[in-house]
Amino acid sequence: MKSILILMSACAFTWSAQAQDRNALLQNSLAATCANCHGSFGRSFDGASIGNLAGMPAKQIVEQMKAFQSGARPATVMHQLSKGYSDAQIEQLASYFAAQNK
Ligand code: HEC
Repeated sequence: MKSILILMSACAFTWSAQAQDRNALLQNSLAATCANCHGSFGRSFDGASIGNLAGMPAKQIVEQMKAFQSGARPATVMHQLSKGYSDAQIEQLASYFAAQNK
């Protein structure tokens, strides 16, 4: 009985670790769609005209994405791009970039 319990908890642990890996992978893939313009991990190079996303507070990223979507913030490309992401995806993107070192 004891060994079954140990086995079950080991399986649950493996399953939750895999679920976390999967979420991290999805979040990384989502963030990679921004890398072309904003740089890997949201770090643009010094002097780049496109803003750095790494380390930007999550709340600010969400607000800016919503402002692009609604047209409240005029943009050249972000008003179009931002419309391709759901609220949940924007939250994931925001927490990803907020967690990156500047
Ligand atoms: C094709 C290039 C391109 C891609 C891809 C791109 N961006 Fe942008 N981003 C820009 C540009 C250019 C601006 C400046 C606003 C404008 O002119 O559209 C900007 C501005 C922003 C800003 C405002 C930054 C600030 O300093 O206020 C945020 C936030 C942002 N982008 C988030 C994202 C996220 C998240 C993604 C990925 C889902 C993304 N961008 C993908 C080009 C891009």
